[in-house]
This record gives sequence, structure tokens and C-alpha cells, in this order.
Amino acid sequence: MFKKLEPLIISIIKNVDTAVDGRLQQICELLKENVAHYDWVGFYFRNGDREELKLGPYAGNPTDHTIIPFGKGICGQVAVSNKNFVVPDVRAQDNYIACSLTVKSEIVVPLFVDGRNVGQIDIDSNTLDPFTEADEHFLEFVNKQVATIL
Ligand code: SME
Repeated sequence: MFKKLEPLIISIIKNVDTAVDGRLQQICELLKENVAHYDWVGFYFRNGDREELKLGPYAGNPTDHTIIPFGKGICGQVAVSNKNFVVPDVRAQDNYIACSLTVKSEIVVPLFVDGRNVGQIDIDSNTLDPFTEADEHFLEFVNKQVATIL
């Protein structure tokens, strides 16, 4: 399934007629619609020089968490760790920001431009423990593609 999505990601990235945010929006929608266990897909980016993340394009229900301080929640932890964070069961996490009561698991993969952690892709799932290494590799691929247009 992920292999089929990769060329679609590349063609969205290459479409210079659409603004960058529009292309990121299309990527979020593509992922949410085509991966059964992806129920909310969004990008967070560092907010200027501040030690906080700001919500970018996303697909799924609106969230109140448009600004997340570094260190807070799964997203804020990835902003400082620079590492993928896979959460099979959000109930087991102390430092977690709940966006919706239906969410059971989450994966956050940092996005690097020239080696700098500039943001992340965040996926929420209503399924318990759905993520494998294939998700991590695919989302790393997505972020590498996105890095080329930032
Ligand atoms: N759950 C995230 C907050 C962002 S929402 O999932 C959209 C966290 O703990 O950082």
C-alpha cells in the first residue's frame, strides 16, 4: 500500500502550480483517505524562533492544539528528541495531549531540512497498536520529499 502511494506523493510535490501549503494539504488528504489506520494527518512546524510548534496543513477533525510548546505532548517531545515517536497506546503516555477521545495511538516523525528539525508529520489513529516499521519508513520518505519544497 505504501509503495503505491510513493509516486502519488512525488507527483503532488512536483506540482509547482499549487502553493506549498496546498501541496501539504493534498498529502494529508491522500494519506488519510488511503491508509485505513490514519484518522488524522497533519504537519506541525517550528514557529519562527520560538520554542514551540505551530499547526500547518492537516486532514481530519479540527484540533484546539494549534500551538504546542517544545517538550509538551508527543509532538513537543519529538521537537527536542529529533527521533520518531511511535505510541501504540496513548493511555500509557503521561506526557500526551489528547486531541480527540477516539484516538488510541499516534506516530510522530520529525522533518529535517539541511539536518535541522523544522517540524514533523503527526498521525492519530483510532486503532490500537497499528503502526509498524513500514509506517516509519513511509513517513520518513514523505518528510524527505516535503523537505525539498520547504
Ligand atoms: N497528541 C499530540 C497533540 C497533537 S494532536 O494529536 C493533533 C501530542 O500529544 O503531542
